[in-house]
Amino acid sequence: MAQEKIAISIGGSILVPDNEDTSYIKQLASALLDMLPSYKFLVVCGGGKIARYYITIGRALGADESSLDELGIEVTRLNARLLITALGEKAYYKPAESIDEARLASNNYPIVVMGGTHPGQTTDAVAALAAEKIKAARIINATSVDGVYTDDPRTNPAAKRIDRMTFKELMDKVVYAKMEAGSSFIFDPLGAKLISRSRIPTAVVFGRDIQQLVNAVRGQPFVGTMISSPPPAPASDAKESR
Ligand code: UTP
Repeated sequence: MAQEKIAISIGGSILVPDNEDTSYIKQLASALLDMLPSYKFLVVCGGGKIARYYITIGRALGADESSLDELGIEVTRLNARLLITALGEKAYYKPAESIDEARLASNNYPIVVMGGTHPGQTTDAVAALAAEKIKAARIINATSVDGVYTDDPRTNPAAKRIDRMTFKELMDKVVYAKMEAGSSFIFDPLGAKLISRSRIPTAVVFGRDIQQLVNAVRGQPFVGTMISSPPPAPASDAKESR
């Protein structure tokens, strides 16, 4: 059976949390390596608090927004190098710097890791573009919350997790998000637009829960949010509407 290609967008705060955590990166690497016979991976790493640190200082020093984005991109590539280190020889030996480089490298390596590519976007958009290019079966967005919520769960305790949503519902949710260097969205609006236009099923999971990440990769039930096309109308409805 052909290997399924999976794109994973992994938040920088998941990969490099507040306290140094070698064991998480080791566990993530070993979970990916264990799934290799059945899957090929393209993993896009975020910048997290280290990117935010550089962006904050750069902004205070008077840098323009695209230069701040370039600082962020450098940090995402640094995080990608950490994961490559943990993955060893199954991974392309350096962070791919463009979608085309990632596509070419994925012909020869079962795992390709990268960070950002161009100013003005985030690594969610890179993951969506890469997923389009390699024809990924799905995207796993491994982030700091266990799914998309009706409101920000950190500030609103009444917020509820949405287990399933359509691409249109995702677009409606991100449309007002503000786009500036270092800001944080549930999903970058550009990434949301890209997955919606190509209808790439996308799972949002809490990235530190490796079991949920593995379940989502395997297409099994997971705790989080599944973003996909609406299910087709039941056969009985179809008959009635004829
Ligand atoms: P992230 O993808 O980590 O952005 O890239 P984020 O969503 O702000 O971070 P998390 O999810 O909270 O960890 C970090 C920064 O790098 C720049 C942007 O400034 C982004 O905010 N970046 C990243 C780009 O300009 N282009 C890219 O392709 C990727």
